[in-house]
Amino acid sequence: MTKRLLIVEDDPGLQSQMRWCFSDELEVAVASNRETALAALRRHEPQVVTLDLGLPPDPGGATEGFALLEDILRLAPSTKVVVVTGREDKENAVRAIGMGASDFYQKPLDPDILTFVVNRAFRLAELERENQELNRRNGTSIKGIVATSPQMMAICRTVEKVAPTDVTTLIIGETGTGKELLARALHDLSGRCDKPFAAINCAAIPENLLESELFGFEKGAFTGATQAKKGKIETANGGTLFLDEIGDMPMPLQAKMLRFLQERVIDRVGSLQSVPVDVRVVCATHRNVQQLVAEGHFREDLYYRVSEITLDIPPLRERRGDAIVIAQSLLKSLGKHMDRASLSFSEDAIAAIEQHPWPGNVREMINKIKRAVIMADGKRVTAEDLELEPRGMVPGDTQLNLRQVREDAERTAICQALQTSNYNMTQAARLLGVTRPTLYNLTEKYRIETSSAESHY
Ligand SMILES: Nc1ncnc2c1ncn2[C@@H]1O[C@H](COP(=O)(O)OP(=O)(O)OP(=O)(O)O)[C@@H](O)[C@H]1O
Ligand SMILES: [Mg+2]
Repeated sequence: MTKRLLIVEDDPGLQSQMRWCFSDELEVAVASNRETALAALRRHEPQVVTLDLGLPPDPGGATEGFALLEDILRLAPSTKVVVVTGREDKENAVRAIGMGASDFYQKPLDPDILTFVVNRAFRLAELERENQELNRRNGTSIKGIVATSPQMMAICRTVEKVAPTDVTTLIIGETGTGKELLARALHDLSGRCDKPFAAINCAAIPENLLESELFGFEKGAFTGATQAKKGKIETANGGTLFLDEIGDMPMPLQAKMLRFLQERVIDRVGSLQSVPVDVRVVCATHRNVQQLVAEGHFREDLYYRVSEITLDIPPLRERRGDAIVIAQSLLKSLGKHMDRASLSFSEDAIAAIEQHPWPGNVREMINKIKRAVIMADGKRVTAEDLELEPRGMVPGDTQLNLRQVREDAERTAICQALQTSNYNMTQAARLLGVTRPTLYNLTEKYRIETSSAESHY
């Protein structure tokens, strides 16, 4: 694959020096401000960008550079950005890395070091691309998870790797993004799959009951404890304990939880004897735990204990293509469930699904589609049935270029044709004016389900 580099630099002298460094081996484009840089990004789709943070109208500061960094990562998240800072400007370099830049380079220009840094960024981009390609070919075997976005594919791949181990995993993400679904996947794909999966929601149980729910109690431990009872942790013995909404666990209990995670023994309430328990712990929360730690509402030591691996699920609105493939899959399974298997989305419904910000993520989508399946007249589910604003198909401001608009449209059309033809590949191919093998390739490319869905809902 051709290696394409975009150099963003406002100093003409440095510009030509850098171009001279690379133009033998790479296809190089140069831009001197944000606007031309974005145009070049769309046109050339460079794998690597070197970005001078001090761009006009703020050549002495870094505001324009940071704004451009944000734009690049939003439009083309897989681009590797090497930030170029002034001498001694460590603070901005660190901030840029925190925002998602892959590396930094400090002026003055040293051709050898710069070449080394840029080559390393290309290598990283290449590895990620290979990895994505592999993912696409292998697919994911995680039951119940429908996804096409690179972010979710990467998460599924991590789940497959982490599941067989016993590392404590923290899953974070907005409400309805699939945290519990992934927690179950971690259990189902582990050696513990035929042992219990015990879930407890720390936010749903009153503080004074949570301890005995988790740790159990002995007979006579408190008034009303007429007989001993096992807690969730013991119930999960041999299997997986899922601590949902761990961010809401009260402070005193956090200390007891930490002791359990360190020593793997529990003391039932009212008992003097510790019992060893073998569980794999998975936690989830929709809250910002790092902030809770900073504010003193969550113990830092517990945070490090539970986040040996963190899975950060992005919201649906940031996962390109996922909304539409999940909606299609839901319509299929919910429709079947409710004896309306032949329903499909109208064009305005599809546009509305793609443009809605989905604050409640997949859970909100399930509710909307359930309602729509009931409300729809005839065979078409409209935006109105979904209670979404009907809107035209306009390219969103998160689209990189025409290729991406085309891919989104292609994905949507294929989903639609499959549904209209009731998942008959020959008929769908005919509707789309392509051959059957082409359709198979495309459904594989976009990870669109081609068989009838089981119902998980
Ligand atoms: N990628 C997906 N494909 C198909 N279904 C999904 C996907 N993600 C989530 N769901 C479904 O959406 C619903 C909500 O998911 P889940 O309960 O796992 O979310 P959550 O993050 O735990 O939400 P909450 O914060 O509300 O507890 C479930 O019915 C789940 O099966
Ligand atoms: Mg949940």
